[in-house]
Amino acid sequence: MTLTVHDAAGLRDALRARRTAGPVVLVPTMGALHAGHLSLVAIARERAGEGGTVVVSIFVNPIQFDRRDDLDAYPRPLEADLDACRSAGVDVVFAPSADAMYAPDRSVTVTETALSRHLCGASRPCHFDGVCTVCLKLFLLTGCDAAVFGEKDFQQLAVIRRMARDLDVPVEILAGPTLREPDGLAMSSRNARLTPKQRADAPRLHRALRDAAALDSPADILAAARREIEASPHARIDYLELVHPHTLRPASARPAVLAAAVFYGHVRLIDHVHLPVAGASGSGKK
Ligand code: PAF
Repeated sequence: MTLTVHDAAGLRDALRARRTAGPVVLVPTMGALHAGHLSLVAIARERAGEGGTVVVSIFVNPIQFDRRDDLDAYPRPLEADLDACRSAGVDVVFAPSADAMYAPDRSVTVTETALSRHLCGASRPCHFDGVCTVCLKLFLLTGCDAAVFGEKDFQQLAVIRRMARDLDVPVEILAGPTLREPDGLAMSSRNARLTPKQRADAPRLHRALRDAAALDSPADILAAARREIEASPHARIDYLELVHPHTLRPASARPAVLAAAVFYGHVRLIDHVHLPVAGASGSGKK
């Protein structure tokens, strides 16, 4: 049975008895759940084991949005999400309101000051403050032993891992691989907001990154990816960068990550591929 709770007290009650039976594993989400989220739930289930508890949080976190229109347009199909959680065997869904999460005069924010300065953090300056703050709150509210994040948001994953390391947060951070539609588009809750024309064009983003990653020089890689993405009349590049996988600073050699954020109308999609050192194993381009 899946229990749905909406505030800290409900969550505490729901988890009190369960905590002694096994690990609590959290999958933090903003809802509009798709197969990518459900694959993270499967990882959580595996980590929690038979006696453990899988918690999915569904919260469209206002403080990580830089644009009001983006926050307002973010899909919130709560009933469908709850059905998906029930079918996936989630034990507890935590779906708080913004008022339940944040005091009106809240004045504490968690800021990561290195990794979050690049890529999405450069174009959305307060985004990772919002992500770190809400994730730390979710870790504390659930008292989770582990939390599962998608590799699609690879910068988010790096920032959360850094936060957990630097603040000694006793939560194991697990990652699940990016799931893609058959045409290569990375699964994202934002895909549903694309018009049919934008949706038909969006797979070009992954193709551009994947094909460019096969080239040798950073200049050629960036130029080829830019050419391919900009060949679409619907796409506007927010950033396209080659960065070091650990520091996220601009990279001029492998290993590197070729990462992009591209607007299709008002919808901003992100994607990336890894460029491993030549001959290195485990290089799977995502
Ligand atoms: O990746 C997301 O959906 C969000 O950034 C997260 C981790 C749930 C925090 O709001």
